[in-house]
Amino acid sequence: MLSRNSYSMPTSLSFEFYGGPSLVSWLALVMLARATFFLLVLLHILVQVQGQYELCKSLLKTDEGSVWEQHACQPKNQSMKEYMRIRVEPPGITCGNPPERFCTLENPYLCSDECDASNPDLAHPPQLMQDRERGGLVTYWQTQTWRRYPEPLLANITLSWNKSLELTDDIEITFEYGRPTAMALEKSLDYGHTWQPYQFYADDCPEVFGMVPQRARDLTPSNATRVICTELYSRWVGAKGDKVVRFETRTRFTTFAGHRLRDMDSLWARFENNKGLRDFFTFTDLRLRLLKPALGGTYVQRDNLLKYFYAISNIEVPARCKCNLHASRCVLEDGICSVCASTTPRARTASAAKRASKPKSGNQDRTCQLLSAHLTHVHRPVLPLGPTVSVMATLTAAVISTT
Ligand SMILES: *[C@@H]1O[C@H](CO)[C@@H](O)[C@H](O)[C@H]1NC(C)=O
Ligand SMILES: *[C@@H]1O[C@H](CO)[C@@H](O)[C@H](O)[C@H]1NC(C)=O
Ligand SMILES: *[C@@H]1O[C@H](CO)[C@@H](O)[C@H](O)[C@H]1NC(C)=O
Ligand SMILES: *[C@@H]1O[C@H](CO)[C@@H](O)[C@H](O)[C@H]1NC(C)=O
Repeated sequence: MLSRNSYSMPTSLSFEFYGGPSLVSWLALVMLARATFFLLVLLHILVQVQGQYELCKSLLKTDEGSVWEQHACQPKNQSMKEYMRIRVEPPGITCGNPPERFCTLENPYLCSDECDASNPDLAHPPQLMQDRERGGLVTYWQTQTWRRYPEPLLANITLSWNKSLELTDDIEITFEYGRPTAMALEKSLDYGHTWQPYQFYADDCPEVFGMVPQRARDLTPSNATRVICTELYSRWVGAKGDKVVRFETRTRFTTFAGHRLRDMDSLWARFENNKGLRDFFTFTDLRLRLLKPALGGTYVQRDNLLKYFYAISNIEVPARCKCNLHASRCVLEDGICSVCASTTPRARTASAAKRASKPKSGNQDRTCQLLSAHLTHVHRPVLPLGPTVSVMATLTAAVISTT
């Protein structure tokens, strides 16, 4: 208490008690010092912003004319489904060899449909998970039926890109004829050498996976990268409309970027400084482990096993080439990016460009490499850009008003 009192006496007060002229000059001095201080802070922040991540600008046309909009440098997001390689296991799991009949969950006596691998009109090969549905005709991959019950009906679908990608939106898997009762989504960061769980899906998480059921929307910034088990997409509700199973990328983003992802800068700043967070949304491969098909009820009807199978019509993977927020363009090769290219012309020396265009032999890291030489990655403190810009604006205003 005492010491605080003695310090709280402003030294400037003692000056004000003395003569007029010295007060004016002192005030001028204080203002100058303050302006210098603000300028220094401004400079410091500018340097930090520069170090955060590369800023790209694009010309934005508005009613009042054109303005430059600044944003994090990265390739645009796109649907990656047409670039993925699909492998289905076990090899004979796809239906139609030999031809077989299947029924529907809604009406188990409606068993007219046939799957025949040798007839293009009746075949359901894996490619139908990634094709574009034309003219409203839904095509899908389909497995054999659960004739071997009670032996589990298992299938793995491995999706490979041979490239580091970064999720930008929800993964959406569309199931025809019911969503699985149990399923796991896994991912690999190293071209399929090692795998880790991404999300678990079950109608009963404790029973199937021994996990407490959770929802992505209950995640917070401190646990946004938690691997959860969700019951949201596995419960049978009888409605044919519920076909989609999601991995909720967007919901996890909103824990950092706010409602409707208004503050994406804050997310990019966190990405830049938190490798764990960045890696969470990064993958080279995804794997779906289908563990139990839709039952259309609570138990399996042994006398009608032809209505149990998996059928997937679409797998949507919205992502972008991983360029570590330092390039805005990807050079596409065979449809998938091979090199990240900076579109900002600054400081790209000829030697750096030459080096970048010739990848080192034996280099296993196929993450897009930065072309500019000076932008090597160093560890930097967290500083969300959004607030920074507004702080900068305030500081600029303060400097202008003081000087
Ligand atoms: C799916 O992949 C896992 C992990 O490699 C493996 O243990 C399992 O046997 C596979 N399942 C099938 C049906 O091939
Ligand atoms: C994966 O990419 C590497 C480097 O770009 C290439 O050498 C290799 O052939 C590719 N592998 C496959 C299976 O496409
Ligand atoms: C993906 O791109 C579209 C426009 O191309 C944009 O509206 C959307 O916000 C982007 N998504 C993310 C997560 O950046
Ligand atoms: C994440 O944290 C929030 C708040 O602490 C909590 O309510 C939620 O259950 C947590 N989720 C997981 C999956 O741990």
